[in-house]
Amino acid sequence: MNYKHITASTIGELESIRLNHPKFTAEVCLFGGQLLSFAPKAHGEVLWLSNTAILDGSKPIRGGVPICWPWFGPALGVNAGKAQHGYARAVDWRVESVIESPEKVEVVLAPNFSEQLSKEIGLTLKARFLFSESVEIQLVSENNGSASRPLSQAIHSYFNVADIDNTQLTGLEGTDYFDQLTRENKKQQGEISIEQACDRIYYTKTAEVELISALRSLKIEGCGHESIVVWNPWQQGAKNMADFDDTGFKQMLCVEMANTRDLVIAPGETHLLSQKISIQ
Ligand code: BG6
Repeated sequence: MNYKHITASTIGELESIRLNHPKFTAEVCLFGGQLLSFAPKAHGEVLWLSNTAILDGSKPIRGGVPICWPWFGPALGVNAGKAQHGYARAVDWRVESVIESPEKVEVVLAPNFSEQLSKEIGLTLKARFLFSESVEIQLVSENNGSASRPLSQAIHSYFNVADIDNTQLTGLEGTDYFDQLTRENKKQQGEISIEQACDRIYYTKTAEVELISALRSLKIEGCGHESIVVWNPWQQGAKNMADFDDTGFKQMLCVEMANTRDLVIAPGETHLLSQKISIQ
């Protein structure tokens, strides 16, 4: 690996790339193609990674920005019995290209699916990371085959908020959502504060929300989504997950640009889902 701002590294037993640039530092794990750390210079860590995350490739990594693809949530229908949130976060990825400049770094990664899996999915995936003072993650899904294919997905970002009691998410006031815990449809009243377990799918194409915490305000922009998922497992939920440290729920909030209902990707079609994270 011969780049100015990128070095090959490891985290636990997994290969990663570390980026050290005048404008930011970052780490992307090649297992899952998962961004684990992003810190614009002069700012602290933007992402949350569980202290008990499993870093040996035996299961997806708890934290950073998992990529849920080619489905979001439990595997349903023909995929019943398969892994929650799809295949992408549980396979090794490769670096496809890197462009470096004094202003930014662009890294494109692609998953190493087996031939059989690629055939089953029928879509190709690339993740483009655009790093600067902000980070943008773009998922490019392409149908090169001759039959239409379903796709649901999420850019499942775990944000470091330091203190969930002191955190608000704005921009979703008045939005309809599905509460995955009570299985009810509801409407958001006012800004979002988290005081208990939260697992909600907001049905919206809104291009921007703001995450205000004691650490900073983050602008979270997206395109290509029809949902924004907001998740915090709270105390009992965290306890039930061995890879979620017991007090970690106090320091994180997931805000995920997503397509939670199947899109249909026609032959020759490309779909772009993106999430951009900037310090306000
Ligand atoms: C969220 C879902 O996106 O991911 C939740 O809305 C789910 O229902 C959470 O519990 C974490 O999923 P996992 O598979 O990483 O434990």
